[in-house]
Amino acid sequence: MLIRAARLDDLPAVYRICHETGLPQDGSARSPELLGHVYVGPYLVAPGARAVVVVDDEGVGGYLLCARDTRAHEAWVEQHWLPGLRADHPLDIPRSPADQEVVELLHTPDIAPDSVVADFPAHLHIDLFGRLQGQGLGRSLIDELITVLTEEGIPGIHLGVGLDNAGAIRFYGRLGFVELTRSASTVYMGRRL
Ligand SMILES: CC(C)(COP(=O)(O)OP(=O)(O)OC[C@H]1O[C@@H](n2cnc3c(N)ncnc32)[C@H](O)[C@@H]1OP(=O)(O)O)[C@@H](O)C(=O)NCCC(=O)NCCS
Repeated sequence: MLIRAARLDDLPAVYRICHETGLPQDGSARSPELLGHVYVGPYLVAPGARAVVVVDDEGVGGYLLCARDTRAHEAWVEQHWLPGLRADHPLDIPRSPADQEVVELLHTPDIAPDSVVADFPAHLHIDLFGRLQGQGLGRSLIDELITVLTEEGIPGIHLGVGLDNAGAIRFYGRLGFVELTRSASTVYMGRRL
């Protein structure tokens, strides 16, 4: 197994991982490229992001993505990433509820609260295919990221996790992340570095 910096040619694989690990729990269908536009694509392209992938015999099977400066990342996404996607995916055309949910995120992104970003300016996304889960890989990827960010002097890192993703909430808790605040659908968790 190899862990390496993500490259642009990893984009199809990381979009697929994002799509498949993020499928709606009620089994409803979703267009395969949509979720990656929100949670994956910018992190392989934007300045100041750090993206690593895990490669095994079957190919790219997981990733850990991080924006060191959440507000700068949000501003880059707003200026460079979302305008074209908004034009291609207008809000008011008929589509499945699962797709509409993501299109609404393209038009109105989830912005982390000031109270979170002040002390925990970096944020991360992690997803592993099932074949790579439960072997300590998530922990070791995040441990390595935390070492890098600590050396860079970044004071804290946060993430947003769906309230319905109890397994991931427990995972982050085991890694020392604590709940900071929550919205109707998301728990924000943070760890000081
Ligand atoms: C969540 C995820 C990143 C965890 O990575 P992982 O490699 O499976 O986790 P690890 O094996 O490194 O586990 C680390 C610790 O978390 C615990 N843990 C991991 N997944 C857990 C779960 N679903 N429920 C409870 N505890 C869990 C482990 O028991 C372990 O505890 P310990 O080391 O203190 O004994 C991975 O399972 C995944 O990608 N899941 C699907 C997508 C997802 O939910 N991503 C997060 C979106 S916010």
